[in-house]
Amino acid sequence: MGSLPRPAAAMIRAARTFYVAEAAGGLLYRRLAEAVGNDDVRHALDQFADDEYRHADWYLDWLIARDVAPPRLDGVVARIAPALARLLSARSLEDQLKLFSSGEAAAARHLRELSTRIHDPALRAVVERTIPAEQGHADWFPAVGQRMLAPADRLRHAGFARRPASPPAPR
Ligand SMILES: [Fe+2]
Ligand SMILES: [Fe+2]
Repeated sequence: MGSLPRPAAAMIRAARTFYVAEAAGGLLYRRLAEAVGNDDVRHALDQFADDEYRHADWYLDWLIARDVAPPRLDGVVARIAPALARLLSARSLEDQLKLFSSGEAAAARHLRELSTRIHDPALRAVVERTIPAEQGHADWFPAVGQRMLAPADRLRHAGFARRPASPPAPR
């Protein structure tokens, strides 16, 4: 079976960008999960990582079906570094989860707006398919995650991370 016709350059750029963004999201959640001591929260974050990697696969499928080379993911670690550092330096697990929840809400809003400008129907369908998951990630903390927190998870510097996010300050 031959590949589908080559899409417009702007659609290819968009799909490649979405692919990298979703893979970066998956890695961000995975790294965050590794740093969390609360088992219930870690489990949820690992599921979110799986969701983001699944979304990345949908974009990858779209690209491959049209014979478009996917971008390399070498830069993904550098791409998540600022967001990861910001999240890990939050005062408590509760604050970390609030930050990520508002980030996901912004992502869902942004995708809703972007989807109206994606003229390729198959690509638009992929974008629209990811939105409920991103909104679900945003809604998880206020609806579910908040109740998973132990008292220590709400405290400043409560030792929520299994390993320190940064080296201790010199004395
Ligand atoms: Fe996603
Ligand atoms: Fe998400």
